[in-house]
Amino acid sequence: MPIKERIYCRGATRADIDAFGRVIDNAFGRSRVHNTGPALAASIHDLEYIRLACHDHDGTEEILGACPIRDYPCHYGPMMLKCGGLSLVGVDPAYQRKGVGQALLANAENFLHAKGYDMCMLFTGSPNFYRHQGWELCVETYFCIIPAVKIPAIPAGSKRAADKITVRPCTPADRLAIQALYEAFNKNRPLTRFRDDDWWSRSFSRDPPWFKNVIVATASDLVAGYARARLVPVPAPYALRYTEEPRVDITEYGVLPSKLPNLQRQIELELLAGIKAMAFEQGFPIIGTPLPGTYPMSNYLRSAGATLKDAFLSSRMVQIVNMQLFLAKLLRFQENIVILGVPRDRWKSLGPFKIGLAVEDVRGKEPVIIRYTSDGTAVRVDIDPSKRPSTLVAVSRKLLGVMTMGNSLPSDLVEGDLWACPAGLVPTLDALFPNFKIIVYDGDNF
Ligand SMILES: CC(C)(COP(=O)(O)OP(=O)(O)OC[C@H]1O[C@@H](n2cnc3c(N)ncnc32)[C@H](O)[C@@H]1OP(=O)(O)O)[C@@H](O)C(=O)NCCC(=O)NCCS
Repeated sequence: MPIKERIYCRGATRADIDAFGRVIDNAFGRSRVHNTGPALAASIHDLEYIRLACHDHDGTEEILGACPIRDYPCHYGPMMLKCGGLSLVGVDPAYQRKGVGQALLANAENFLHAKGYDMCMLFTGSPNFYRHQGWELCVETYFCIIPAVKIPAIPAGSKRAADKITVRPCTPADRLAIQALYEAFNKNRPLTRFRDDDWWSRSFSRDPPWFKNVIVATASDLVAGYARARLVPVPAPYALRYTEEPRVDITEYGVLPSKLPNLQRQIELELLAGIKAMAFEQGFPIIGTPLPGTYPMSNYLRSAGATLKDAFLSSRMVQIVNMQLFLAKLLRFQENIVILGVPRDRWKSLGPFKIGLAVEDVRGKEPVIIRYTSDGTAVRVDIDPSKRPSTLVAVSRKLLGVMTMGNSLPSDLVEGDLWACPAGLVPTLDALFPNFKIIVYDGDNF
């Protein structure tokens, strides 16, 4: 019997951790990961979320592959999406290309559906493998790197604002301020991770603590920004990312939203100067950051001449696990629902319109109907309305996933009356709004 028909999937238990670690190390190769399993298992809140593919080998169970799932609750306007995050899906090389990986993905989706998840996301270097199971590529991530010496000094013209901003290392006493700042900065950046009290308390008390290599910027003694760095030596202990030169990576940052855009920019530049100083002190001559994750700070690096490198896990993909749950949440986030990251006031420029979308629901027989009605001032959104719109545009689950990420564009990218959107959306938008101009940004802006 082909192996595909003998595989079964189940959640891991304590007894599986060593075998799970071996599968991951073998699948990715020991130059990329080493002894990653136990650390990965410790970071997953419930071992049942490590899905294992097994078969019976002469009366003994053998683990062939693993699909660890993190809990990754995300911001989506005022909503919190219940989202899973697949990390390091791997199949033992002796059993690859026999359907084990696909079986794991199908099992992970059913598992998340049963647990009430809305959607799931992942980063990968093998998007084709996931496409078979309804995943779609949304954002390409690159590594942006630049010699620290090339980062320009803060312009003299802004000296006055700079006088009031101080950059210093983060301490445990900064926790609540940073927690609040993180929320304020990210709540309008859809699909950023929602971090609750428990997350912050665990992160500040683990070893090494989260605040190691974090710098904070204070303005008038208030914590107004932070940037977190990771020192990446060469040879790196593991090489899942670009690692040719010793680097200081900016992994995340946040700035307190301000009504004064200049102040915000100034804080970002001060943080960048702080990271540059860290790079010199530590003897790591290069600064790197993933793009677009740290937008707009990454844009300063690009305008200073940073180069782009492919990242190993470079494609961000999403899958909508439960269409009904997902849409019900989006409906409560009407101003940004489904069609683009266009704020409510921009809808007005379209004048009155009626739009119907028929969204594929892979678990139901019928598509879910969404109707938008605008009288030119306000938009009303209905799900499965009793009266169907006369024209319906078909939207696949994959396209809806891309649209959701389209919503995650920083609003700065929407210029004037033009809408910025991923290339995959253009045909649908053209059908809906033939007279509206759309900018398609290059992949690296998303
Ligand atoms: C990627 C991986 C998990 C796939 O598991 P698998 O059991 O070999 O996959 P399946 O046999 O179920 O795959 C079926 C289809 O997926 C696609 N696929 C499989 N491996 C792929 C890969 N490495 N890259 C792109 N597509 C792939 C193929 O289209 C394949 O169909 P085909 O053989 O008819 O062309 C496995 O090859 C692996 O562990 N690779 C190393 C670790 C890794 O790269 N993980 C994913 C990145 S996070």
